[in-house]
Amino acid sequence: FDFAEPKNEPVLGYAPGSAERKALQHALAEMKATKRDIPMYIDGEEVRSDNKVEIRPPHETAHLLGHFHMSSEEHVHDAIDAALDAREKWAAMNWEHRASIFLKAADLLATKYRYRMNAATMLGQSKNAYQAEIDSACELIDFLRFNVHFLSKIYKDQPISPAGMNNRMEYRPLEGFVLAVTPFNFTAIGGNLPTSAAMCGNVVVWKPANTQVYSASVFMEILIEAGLPAGVINLIYPPGPMVGEICYAHPYFAGVHFTGSTGVFQSMWKSIGNNISRYRSYPRIVGETGGKDFVFVHPSANVDAVVAGLARGAFEFQGQKCSAASRAYLPANLAEEIKKKLVAELATMKMGPVDDFTNFVNAVIDEKAFKSITKYIDGVKNGNGDAKILCGGNYDSKKGWFIEPTVIETTDPSYVTMCEEIFGPVLTIYTYEADMWIQTLEVLDSTSPYALTGAIFAQDRYAIEYMTKALVNSAGNFYINDKPTGAVVGQQPFGGARASGTNDKAGSILNLYRWLSARTIKETY
Ligand code: ALA
Repeated sequence: FDFAEPKNEPVLGYAPGSAERKALQHALAEMKATKRDIPMYIDGEEVRSDNKVEIRPPHETAHLLGHFHMSSEEHVHDAIDAALDAREKWAAMNWEHRASIFLKAADLLATKYRYRMNAATMLGQSKNAYQAEIDSACELIDFLRFNVHFLSKIYKDQPISPAGMNNRMEYRPLEGFVLAVTPFNFTAIGGNLPTSAAMCGNVVVWKPANTQVYSASVFMEILIEAGLPAGVINLIYPPGPMVGEICYAHPYFAGVHFTGSTGVFQSMWKSIGNNISRYRSYPRIVGETGGKDFVFVHPSANVDAVVAGLARGAFEFQGQKCSAASRAYLPANLAEEIKKKLVAELATMKMGPVDDFTNFVNAVIDEKAFKSITKYIDGVKNGNGDAKILCGGNYDSKKGWFIEPTVIETTDPSYVTMCEEIFGPVLTIYTYEADMWIQTLEVLDSTSPYALTGAIFAQDRYAIEYMTKALVNSAGNFYINDKPTGAVVGQQPFGGARASGTNDKAGSILNLYRWLSARTIKETY
């Protein structure tokens, strides 16, 4: 295998009539017709419980896709034991052999299983074909290939050895197991969090969100076919609090690789702190959480670029990205034109199930999300605070969890939808006086505790430089004249600080360092 820097996996276009569209439609029909019975995977074995949970597409809740088998406390203990039993052999394995398993999984995903994986993401998470292709094919393949490449660079990095001695670094895995907790919104994140830790020689207990189990289990099947040894990654589906309670109390809990809500991450951190004296080593806590991602438009901006950035940045995948644009600051000189064009653009976006490839907008993930998002919309409709609906605002749950792309306008930069993460297809716009752009940057920075992504739009080079400096800590991923979403592995390492996480940049060498615990050896001769 060649560990040289890979190229990003090309994105397929799924044009009408194309062979790839037909193949994806075939995979969709096949998966839809099969009632999958999804087991846990513990110690390489398929494990079933008597507690089965139904899986239904968010855009077609009348249809049953299958079931998964909910885990009990015993299964969590079994998964930890299996991981720890597998640890010694896995850690001792020549790392190129470990890497070859993940490269093979990437190749299987790129070829044999691409359509099945995308179909699972479309059905289980209500992503349209284009969003699924970027996520569960390209990004996941890229994570696997780039992480192998980054790791090869780390292993090569050795200290200097003056005459008479040999100094070396042994990049050991952590002494224990890593817990990977993954969200519904990216199949690629689901795949990345357990595999990046495992690639470094760690053993893993993987708990995906219930709403990700459908696609996560397809990826697990691929890992097994690629040759992943029993016990290295154990996939289980317990309730979140249960897995935490058991894992954080374990002396060999070595770290958590998490993507999810800020609230869950903070409570994890507290539980780990409360257990600190139990552990063999201090656990690594790596988390990527929420965002209140901004688009700041300077008076010199190109209006069409702003409109494209807002439409895609706020509404692709129904805004269910931690990176989604959810608050926009428009200068008064451009605001009317931007709003008019944005409303016209959103009117062209069709909403409906994923099987019809012309639907840009699909359903939000589940009833809980539907209720929490529509509460914000209802707040505006009911006249709470200084805000009104510019467009959208309708929702309907008869067939699935559908919410129209909604733009709220406010004259209050601290209005609740300018500050709180909504995680849905809702964008709030605030218009400022054009000569107040510098002061408005300060308002932007102080309005939200998050610092994940943000975009500025401007053509004035002085303003671009000024804003880039003024917003230095406001976003871990900062975009100039582009939407704040869609980071590509190897191109824009992803993550933010402040309340958005530990900024350990998924898809970068920085992330892999967190799963290694180096031993320095000095040998004198
Ligand atoms: N990495 C994803 C994005 O950049 C969340 O949109």
